[in-house]
Amino acid sequence: MTAAAIRTGVPADHDAIAALYREAFPEEDLLPLLCGLLAGDGVLSLVAAGDDERVVGHVAFTDCAVAGDTARAALLGPLAVAGERQGRGIGSALVRAGLDRLAAAGPVRVFVLGDPTYYARFGFAPEAGIASPYPLPGEWAGAWQSLALGGAGPAPSGRLSVPPVWDDPALWAA
Ligand SMILES: CC(C)(COP(=O)(O)OP(=O)(O)OC[C@H]1O[C@@H](n2cnc3c(N)ncnc32)[C@H](O)[C@@H]1OP(=O)(O)O)[C@@H](O)C(=O)NCCC(=O)NCCS
Repeated sequence: MTAAAIRTGVPADHDAIAALYREAFPEEDLLPLLCGLLAGDGVLSLVAAGDDERVVGHVAFTDCAVAGDTARAALLGPLAVAGERQGRGIGSALVRAGLDRLAAAGPVRVFVLGDPTYYARFGFAPEAGIASPYPLPGEWAGAWQSLALGGAGPAPSGRLSVPPVWDDPALWAA
C-alpha cells in the first residue's frame, strides 16, 4: 500500500525536494537540474506527501519534442523516494500519476533513461527509433526507453529535442 498522497509540487516544496535528491543521489549534484526544472515552464512536478505532509517522493516530467511526431513528447526524470520509504509503492504511484495526467491530455510518447527492470512495470520498452538527445555510453543502451500513451500512433525516427535545462551532455554521460 502507498502511504503517501500524490499532488502537484508547489514552490514551498523546493527545499524538501532538493533534500530528497541529495539523499537519494549523494554522488551526483542534481541541484542545478532540479532548480531549472522546478523554475521552468512545461514541467509536471509531482510530490508524494506522507501523513505528516512531509515530502517523501518526487518525480518530474518535462515537455520535449520529436520532429515529425503527431504525439507530444515528455521526458520522465528525475525520480526519487526517501530511503526509509522506498519499496512501498511510492515511486510507482508517482510514475503512474504522471503518466495518467499526460495521457489524459492526448497522445504522448514518454521517454526515460533508467533501469529497465524498474520501468518495464509501467510498460516502458527499449527505444531504438528515437535517439536520446546525446549519445549514451554503450552499457546504457537498454536504459533508453519509451512508452506511447493516449493513442499515440507509430513513432517517426529521429532524436528527442529537449529544453535547455536538459540540453547538457553531462546529464547523458556515465
Ligand atoms: C528507484 C526508486 C525511485 C523506486 O521507488 P520505490 O518507491 O522504492 O519503488 P516502488 O515501491 O514503487 O517499487 C519497488 C520496486 O522497485 C525496485 N527498485 C527500487 N529501486 C530500484 C532501482 N534503483 N533500480 C531498479 N529497481 C529498483 C524494487 O526492487 C522493487 O521491485 P519489486 O516490485 O519487483 O519488488 C527509489 O528506490 C529511489 O529513490 N531510489 C534511489 C534513487 C534512484 O535510484 N532513482 C533512479 C530511478 S531509475
